[in-house]
Amino acid sequence: MRRTVSALTIALFASSAPAVAHDGTGSGSPDQQAAATLAKMTLEEKIQLLHGPMPSLLPAAKRPQGVPIGAGVIMGVPRLGIPNLTETDASLGVSNLNDLRKGDVATAMPSGMAVAASWDPALALAGGAMIGNEARAKGFNVMLVGGVNLVRDPRAGRNFEYLGEDPLLAGTLVGAQIAGVQSNKIVATIKHFAVNDMETGRNVHNVEMAEAPMRESDLLAFELGMEKGDPHAVMCGYNRVNGAYACENSFLLNDVLRRDWGFKGFVMSDWGAVHSSEAIVKGLDQQSGEQIDGRRWFSELMTKAVAEGRVPESAIDTSVRRILRAMYASGIADRPVTGGEAIDYDAHGAVAQRAAEEGIVLLRNEGGVLPLAATARSIVVIGGHANIGVLSGGGSSQVRPVGGFALEQRQTGGGTAAFAKRSYGASSPLAAIKAARPDAQISFFDGSDPAAAAAAARSADVAIVFAEKWATEAADHKDLALDGNADTLIDAVARANPHTVVVLETGNPVAMPWHDQVPAIVAAWFPGQRGGEAIARVLTGAVNPSGHLPVTFPASVAQLPNPVLPGSDAAPADASTRATYGLMAGTKPFSVTFPEGSDAGYRWFAAKARTPLYPFGYGLSYTTFRYDALKVSGGNALTVRFTVTNMGKRAGADVPQVYVTRPGKAKRLVGWDKPVLAPGETRTVTVTADPRVLADFDVKARRWFQPAGTYTVEVGGSATDVKLKGVTRLARKTVKP
Ligand code: BGC
Repeated sequence: MRRTVSALTIALFASSAPAVAHDGTGSGSPDQQAAATLAKMTLEEKIQLLHGPMPSLLPAAKRPQGVPIGAGVIMGVPRLGIPNLTETDASLGVSNLNDLRKGDVATAMPSGMAVAASWDPALALAGGAMIGNEARAKGFNVMLVGGVNLVRDPRAGRNFEYLGEDPLLAGTLVGAQIAGVQSNKIVATIKHFAVNDMETGRNVHNVEMAEAPMRESDLLAFELGMEKGDPHAVMCGYNRVNGAYACENSFLLNDVLRRDWGFKGFVMSDWGAVHSSEAIVKGLDQQSGEQIDGRRWFSELMTKAVAEGRVPESAIDTSVRRILRAMYASGIADRPVTGGEAIDYDAHGAVAQRAAEEGIVLLRNEGGVLPLAATARSIVVIGGHANIGVLSGGGSSQVRPVGGFALEQRQTGGGTAAFAKRSYGASSPLAAIKAARPDAQISFFDGSDPAAAAAAARSADVAIVFAEKWATEAADHKDLALDGNADTLIDAVARANPHTVVVLETGNPVAMPWHDQVPAIVAAWFPGQRGGEAIARVLTGAVNPSGHLPVTFPASVAQLPNPVLPGSDAAPADASTRATYGLMAGTKPFSVTFPEGSDAGYRWFAAKARTPLYPFGYGLSYTTFRYDALKVSGGNALTVRFTVTNMGKRAGADVPQVYVTRPGKAKRLVGWDKPVLAPGETRTVTVTADPRVLADFDVKARRWFQPAGTYTVEVGGSATDVKLKGVTRLARKTVKP
């Protein structure tokens, strides 16, 4: 399984655009090249690099020539060989929001949550390499890719773009994704820095969180992702963090990012997240999508701020040097993107399909209903638009898939108007099931009439119900319920047919009031370009499912740290709010606290001894695995070794996980592997813990601190499934951030 992905990845890496000389000094390190170019620039040219518009909001006649319409553009300086920065979203493929580049399609990866459910960094790398290849081919040299905000609440609208609730899992995968994108010699932007974990009032809310829990959770995901992926840019978020806007938060941008982590690239704002020219001194380098802010803080107003002495000219030089450095370090100056290159959509579709297949999680399979038996000859497929395609998430990450949309429906009351579209990629699960099972009689009911669907299910061998929960940027869910009449429909069908399978297409965990009546449940997320095929291959057994949950499915919102979603009762924005916070302010300002602190997700459930519907890390296979021979060694470093054996008759991939607990602390994931095992095969897995995952952050000493003591190690197939247990002593250790 892995080998195919790696071979393709290597092929994708072999991008060979001709080297073109730029007018820097042409040689030396990126720092030296940046310094040499900076020395030749006028103040006006420097300021030009600090800001840019959203091309789609410019009148057509004013759009820069020869620049593809994406989320943003920063005009370069041709006389010095400084390229334009041509920016587009992002994590799920090259987006084309509202079809502004008429008819331009791209390969749609499954949602971030699905990629996270693969627990497979090689797959995230291959996906990133594929997305970056398409970006370069289409003329974009900055991918706004790398969303790694932690899932703290299953109602948060953008969770589908992100990589789950655990900092080690999310940081590892985002690092791989960024490395893949940047292997095409373009810039990737890890985002949204930081603690931008929910959409309600995203432009006005203030997250209050102490430094230690922040370092141990959201910031750790960024820290690991940046180490592994080395992105050339960081995007700061909309929200405030402890009173200061994320895009003018000196603690986040100057202290953590640059002083502690040694980040050498540049910080770009999110679109509409800038509030002053002085933000440049607090660590922001570039104002993106400036029309959304309404004020040109980093252009005319910056010139004024320099003239009035409010911003030192040296701050402009510092920011421009960082931007230039990123251009030289990434390769976009030496190998300019030209666009118009051919794209191998077939090969890329295969990457997306593999990601969907690896990310699908088999949640329940009582009595072996799945894979569909050869004797299941009459199958009724119901609901979820399964006859036309698969659902995707809305917002800036929305990709127009190759093959187009089968259906686009305007939504009301969710997100901004531009984002409120419910779109289905033309990859029909029904068609794929029919193609895989030509021997079976397969009918379809759209589910609008539960009684009719149940009647058809009654006489079928198997009923498969597709259920959805759409999600979009700029809006959170109000609850965990499936969309429309799905709960009633599933209940009616399950009563009619004991062999009912539910396939969930959601961006988030959902509630399942019908859970115990349904023998088989599959979480397919938003499965992307070839989601229909991937779902069919899992249902029919061509693929043995190997996805594991990157997020806890709570039994109800009452189990969450914030049973009531913060800000859900905030008053609507008035004129004065909009004057302060910009046009996108939906509500009056409010504060957000996350009572779980560093213990997001499964750690909160462990600390509070709450039993979720499905735990983090959980996922079934069509085979079973056994874990043996645990060896734990401590001392200076924690190393855990054990064997995994495939006990069944089918080949399959497992995700054995290692968790560590020490007295008074919630358990933490310290590592995992994804061995692919033939029937009867045994493999040894070795996990060495990164001390930062085990440690506490000592704010005073500005160090990670791992106390000496006894650490309990658990090995299992989820955060609550303990198959092997050991203890060891670890020495005291401190680690610099
Ligand atoms: C989103 C970013 C995105 C940007 C540009 C913003 O609304 O928060 O993630 O990159 O738009 O499209």
